[in-house]
Parts: sequence; C-alpha cells; structure tokens
Amino acid sequence: MSIKQLPNSKTDLLLEIAPDVERLYNRHLEAPRLWYPHEQINWGQGQNFGEHAWSESDYPLSAGVRSSIYVNLLTEDNLPYYTNTLLSHAPKGHPIREWNHQWTMEENRHAMVMRDWVHITRCIDPTLLEDGRRVQMKKGEVPQPESFADLITYVAFQERATQIAHRNTGAHLPKDDKMGRNVLALVAGDETKHYLFYRDLAMAAFAIDPSTMMVAAAKQAQAFAMPGTGIPSFTRHAVRIAREGIYGLSQFLKDVLDPVLNLWDVDHIAGLTMEAEKARAELAEMIKQLSATVERMAQKAAALATNPKPVTL
Ligand SMILES: [Fe+2]
Ligand SMILES: [Fe+2]
Repeated sequence: MSIKQLPNSKTDLLLEIAPDVERLYNRHLEAPRLWYPHEQINWGQGQNFGEHAWSESDYPLSAGVRSSIYVNLLTEDNLPYYTNTLLSHAPKGHPIREWNHQWTMEENRHAMVMRDWVHITRCIDPTLLEDGRRVQMKKGEVPQPESFADLITYVAFQERATQIAHRNTGAHLPKDDKMGRNVLALVAGDETKHYLFYRDLAMAAFAIDPSTMMVAAAKQAQAFAMPGTGIPSFTRHAVRIAREGIYGLSQFLKDVLDPVLNLWDVDHIAGLTMEAEKARAELAEMIKQLSATVERMAQKAAALATNPKPVTL
C-alpha cells in the first residue's frame, strides 16, 4: 500500500512526520554502535551438554534473575513478529520502512549474543529455554497497536521498559560474570538508542497532531504490559521478576511513564479536542492510582523487611 492509498486520518500524520523520521534516523546513524556478538563471548569457558548435563549449581542465581534472563531472551527471540507489526504500519516509500529494517538488523543480534552467553555460562536451563522458544514462536503473539500513533507511543514505552529490564538484570548478575554484565550492557545500550528514536518521534507527532497522540498515549499507557504473553508460565515469571526489583509496577511508573510523559509534557499540551482532554484526565487518574499502589507495595515490603513473617513448616 502506498502512502497515498491510506485513509486520510492515517495519511496525515504519516505524511507529515516523514521529515522527522528522516531527521531522527540520520541522528541514529551518526552514532553507530558497531559491536560483534562473537567478540563478547569467552568460548573456552564452554562445556558440551551431552557430557555435562545442566544443573542449577552450574551458576547459582536467584529464581527472579533466572526468570528475567529467560523472559528477556525469549522476547528478543520473538523479533520476527515485532518486525511484522512495525512493517504493517510502514507503507512502501515511507522512510519509516528503512528505519524498521535498521531496527530489525540491530535487534537481531540481541538474542544471538544472549543465547551464546547463556549456553557458555549455563546461567539458565537451556532445555527449558528451547522448549519455551518453540511454544512462544509457534503462537506468534505480539501486541497489535491499531494506528501509527498507537504504535509509536507503545514502542517508546516498550523500548524504555526493555532498556530498564536488561540494565537491571545485568546489575543483579554476580560480580564475577563480567561476560554477562558486558553482554546485557551492550543490549541495553542498543535499546536506549531505540527508545530515543521512538520517544523523539512521538514528541514530533505530538507537535503535528496533539489530540490523536494524547488519546494514543493514554490508551497505550493504560494497556501497557511487558511483552511475553506467549511465553509459558509468563505470569509466574513476571511476578518473580517484579519481586526481585528488576521490572515491575514500580519501574513502570518511575522509570518508564514518569520520564517519558514528562518529556512529552502531556500536562501542558494546549488546544486538545474534548476526547483528548478526557484521555488526559484518565491518564492522570491512572497515574495517581498507580502511584498509590506502588507506595502501598513499598510500605508493605519495608514492613516485611523489618518484621519478617515467621516461617511455618
Ligand atoms: Fe532488543
Ligand atoms: Fe530495542
């Protein structure tokens, strides 16, 4: 479908934002991150799994950090379906299509380097990982934002959330796993640049069509969930990851919503339609409720830390 064949409401934002896509894509290319997955791995550390079956004691780690590596790596594996969704909003001849190709090329190395590190260090069970990959990829489940405005707001939140999840997972690895810390820092660095692209593209879109973007931002913030619904036992893993302090409601509020919405300056955007004003009010209410929940959870955790529940056998 060419840009001219799109329905009007979609054409306007897509057409008008094309120069911003080019500007931000060029900015992205000006600071290339050239790193090689094979150079990050200490290959001599590896052992054959046939002779040395995996066991938890190969790499002692809490269940929450293991869950985080498992979910984050499987999410990176699911790349073909994310690319498919992004391209479905990128008409031929539009510069967003070229960006999507660059993005896919960069994202593809994340699963490669993470899996090499996982297999060499044995930090998680490789059989469980492969079983999870097969189940997830057969389902092909990824969020499907309805419009281009929905897509860029969702991906801005998503890239930021992914950056935080990789960064915090790396910080939870044992100090002597320099390979793992380096691998996750490289991946988080790529996610940072993707986040900057989408965050600033959405900001440009707010300047073009503030009402459409406000409705999209409110909708995507309220519906946002980390990807991974196709991953076996996703909810159980998500709870463990949140308990570990890697990624949960608190990080979503403080590290994702607060900085992104502040930068878009959603509280001060003028000239909104009634529908967009309503969406802004709903977003503010949602953030108020989320803040209260996060505060309650922090108080509960602090009370438990000073006065732990007795263990009943
Ligand atoms: Fe990634
Ligand atoms: Fe990314």
